[in-house]
Amino acid sequence: MSEFADLQKAVVARVGGYDIRRCDREDIPSVINTNMDTLPEHYSDYFYYEILAEFPETFLVAEIDGALVGYVMCRIEYGFSHLKRLGLARKGHVVSIAVKPEHRGKGIGTALMRASQDAMVAKTATESYLEVRVTNSEAIALYQRLGYAVSSRLEAYYKDGEAALVMAAKLGQ
Ligand code: ACO
Ligand code: ZN
Repeated sequence: MSEFADLQKAVVARVGGYDIRRCDREDIPSVINTNMDTLPEHYSDYFYYEILAEFPETFLVAEIDGALVGYVMCRIEYGFSHLKRLGLARKGHVVSIAVKPEHRGKGIGTALMRASQDAMVAKTATESYLEVRVTNSEAIALYQRLGYAVSSRLEAYYKDGEAALVMAAKLGQ
């Protein structure tokens, strides 16, 4: 294994028997499977590789006994703040997070979010945001516990017509 691969596989957090570590190119097929099984929002294979290439620090996976059970995929962006009126900010955008159903409720989602937020801070982001379906109460509750609050609502955001809540949190304090 190359030194780079070793670095990329370094464990950033542990929860239960699960390791949270950076995603690697070899993990992408499992990430795509997890997404297919758990979320109605899918992306092209290219999209995952592109995000990993551009934002490797904030693309994390959860693993147990060599099996991938969850991921969080983020982008660092610069644009209008979701927290300050008219201000600009460097923002960590949580594009997608999922944990396989049989591994939920064990703190993996929380650990993935916390670790990605730490990585966003390291990339000097000052806030984090995401979109979530208005009916996804489990995910909304998780985000609220992590300090995210609703900043706006986007009608008909999803292909099936459902609305999204934009939720945002201040980072690094
Ligand atoms: N299943 C689910 N939740 C449970 C279960 C269970 N069997 N048992 C208990 N819970 C509760 C827990 O009490 C926990 O709350 P707590 O922190 O107060 O204990 C909470 O539900 C879940 O917290 P975690 O265990 O940290 O999170 P989890 O690993 O279950 O992952 C996630 C949460 C990612 C939202 C998961 O439910 C999932 O993959 N959902 C489907 C995909 C999805 O909706 N993703 C978010 C879309 S929005 C976006 O991607 C920006
Ligand atoms: Zn988004």
